[in-house]
Amino acid sequence: MHMDLGIEEIEKKALEEIAGADDEAALKDISVKFIGRKGLVTGFLRNISSLPNEQRPMAGKRANEVKKKIESTIADAIEKLAAVISEADSIDVSLPGRPGFRGSIHPLTVVNREICEIFVRQGFEIAEGPEVETDYYNFEALNFPDDHPARDMQDTFFVSEDTLLRTHTSPLQIRLMEKQEPPVRAIMPGRVFRCDSDITHTPMFHQVEGLLVGEDVTFGDLKGMLTSFAKEMFGEDKSLRFRPSFFPFTEPSAEVDISCVMCGGKGCRICSGTGWLEILGSGMVHPALFENVGYDTDKYRGFAFGMGVERIAMLKYGIDDIRRFFENDFRFLRQF
Ligand code: PHE
Repeated sequence: MHMDLGIEEIEKKALEEIAGADDEAALKDISVKFIGRKGLVTGFLRNISSLPNEQRPMAGKRANEVKKKIESTIADAIEKLAAVISEADSIDVSLPGRPGFRGSIHPLTVVNREICEIFVRQGFEIAEGPEVETDYYNFEALNFPDDHPARDMQDTFFVSEDTLLRTHTSPLQIRLMEKQEPPVRAIMPGRVFRCDSDITHTPMFHQVEGLLVGEDVTFGDLKGMLTSFAKEMFGEDKSLRFRPSFFPFTEPSAEVDISCVMCGGKGCRICSGTGWLEILGSGMVHPALFENVGYDTDKYRGFAFGMGVERIAMLKYGIDDIRRFFENDFRFLRQF
């Protein structure tokens, strides 16, 4: 049957089929059919020996030309198809633009700024200090007894015998008072470190320390200041509770609770049924600190407080796992 077809007919048929093919697979099939190992042109070439002697050179030459022609026509057709496809895939300039990705301010930064701004409006200055501290500023000058459990290796990351990562922002109280005479009115944000990790603790977290020292500072001033802070932060409808507590560097000391942000005080899972949520530690500056920085203990009184930024942010936004702040998941971060 192959031999029945002359080389001119084979060429004509091949070019017609190529012109009618509308995808790459069809073109590949045509290539196999005509110039593949068992293709028509290949068959024609193989049978040249059966032609009369004088026809052989001419027939061989034509068959090779036809083979090349089919090859190049198929290659051109494939190229054309590819061009059509890429045109279809390219940018449609009439579509509305896709907005680029914009970052947002981290929720801890938002809350940290908000805390500081509330106090700056009350006349507090902002102060900062080192994250790598000495035992003296982190503990000793703050009236921690030598055997206090907070010095234990379990809570504190020690860098050397008396160098450590600060476990709270309270050392900034000492650093600030050493540098200036009263009146002192400062808010001190910073990173702190404790060897602790679960759904409410991370080894690094943020605190904001407050310190006010002057001649007639009372516990009433502390209550008033923190009450107006908490209402600005969490809403006017919140009530505050000052609960007696203990810190070596304040006397008396109080922990401050706000009425539960979830149940409003009735008692729920978030507040463990108590109706209250602890937001910070506070108290009147212990006279031992004034002695350590050379302030006149008869003349001056002060109050101090310290709060955890993560904790405030979790309560404010209803976040139940502190680790969310540090996972950098855009789906979480974009919501603030
Ligand atoms: N430094 C205390 C803590 O980390 C908080 C605090 C600060 C308490 C200032 C009283 C006064 O728990």
